[in-house]
Amino acid sequence: MFVPTKLYEGKAKILYTTDNPDVLLADFKDDATAFNAQKRGSIQGKGSINCTLSGKLFQQLESHSIKTHFIDCPAPNQMRVKAVKILPLEVVVRNIAAGSLCQQTGLSLGTVLPQALVEFYYKDDKLGDPLLTRDRLLLLKLATEEQIESITHLALQINEFLKGFWQQCGITLVDFKLEFGLDSQQQLLLADEISPDTCRLWDMAENDPNRRVMDKDRFRRDLGNVENAYQEVLQRVLKVLESQ
Ligand code: C5P
Repeated sequence: MFVPTKLYEGKAKILYTTDNPDVLLADFKDDATAFNAQKRGSIQGKGSINCTLSGKLFQQLESHSIKTHFIDCPAPNQMRVKAVKILPLEVVVRNIAAGSLCQQTGLSLGTVLPQALVEFYYKDDKLGDPLLTRDRLLLLKLATEEQIESITHLALQINEFLKGFWQQCGITLVDFKLEFGLDSQQQLLLADEISPDTCRLWDMAENDPNRRVMDKDRFRRDLGNVENAYQEVLQRVLKVLESQ
């Protein structure tokens, strides 16, 4: 009988081997961390919500010709994914100024950007995930020129799709983080997750800067009602998908 091995445990997920070397099983945890794991907690039901949401969004993206690592969800908090070598990059796309963009540039929270901004951060906890320039990406051999081009293009395509999708849910997509991996044929696949942990999502029906927050900022900034917000995001997504 096959015994799964734990390959990797991250802050939000555990990755296990399966009986197929090309397939891994991701187990989504309820654990929540922020500020490079200086703040720790748990969001009840988060694992299942983020796994289900990510699965639905990956399926939507696949149907729009974006290749992802998603295979299926054998349980609400488990996702079978194609085995990929994750690039040590956090690719952030921003439509509206928030978070570190405001802190580092002085732009006011909520400033609508004239065009989507694509940024690359070095996924390295010890270094504090620093913002990279194109030259630093090449210097550190984190990606080739061609990969930088492809990732930027894919990130913008994903943003266009997601902006429209979240809008149908009555939600403004402020910004989000993506991760990419390479499969055995060196093909770029969208990996990791797309969830309220990795996106800033604002309720279009709320103007109040705290009440509109439907994402992990509720946990980061101790705004309360974290579980309710995540649950509401999932319900809205399911409702839109049902109506399609
Ligand atoms: O903190 P910052 O403003 O740079 O975050 C931009 C976006 O990337 C936010 O949606 C945040 O949730 C996401 N992010 C993430 N994981 C990180 C850093 C940021 O999902 N390690």
